[in-house]
Amino acid sequence: MENKKLIELAFEAREAAYAPYSNFAVGAALLTADGKVYKGCNIESASYSPTNCGERTAMFKAVSEGERDFSAIAVVGGFLDREKIDFAWPCGVCRQVLMEFCDPKTFRVIVAKSVDDYEEYLLEELLPKGFSPRNMEKLI
Ligand code: THU
Repeated sequence: MENKKLIELAFEAREAAYAPYSNFAVGAALLTADGKVYKGCNIESASYSPTNCGERTAMFKAVSEGERDFSAIAVVGGFLDREKIDFAWPCGVCRQVLMEFCDPKTFRVIVAKSVDDYEEYLLEELLPKGFSPRNMEKLI
């Protein structure tokens, strides 16, 4: 799937964001190795800490459906009351969750401001020297 299409789906996912406390809406579109896409949005909580990021929502949806093989994720985010959005970088917790299920040397993370304005990184660039299932000598 083309990056542009995946970004489009991330924007679509953002529409469902539940972010009444931060007003910062995030959407993610996670691509499986066989071409399926799982969308996710951030889901906040009145007690704050249970908040789930868009990337993790997408990943948990996919893993709970039995998916284990992933090739890329597109992430978009920004304040709901501002038209312009900046790159929404995956937080450290989400990078770690991606590390659990994705090969850091091949998995692509696409952060986008629009379908035409985006940057792409390998997971290993965003989480260098990360701890992963490989360190537990246990391959997924
Ligand atoms: N957020 C995400 O959804 N993904 C990230 O990687 C960073 C932060 C959400 C969490 C919270 O609902 C809002 O953005 C502000 O932190």
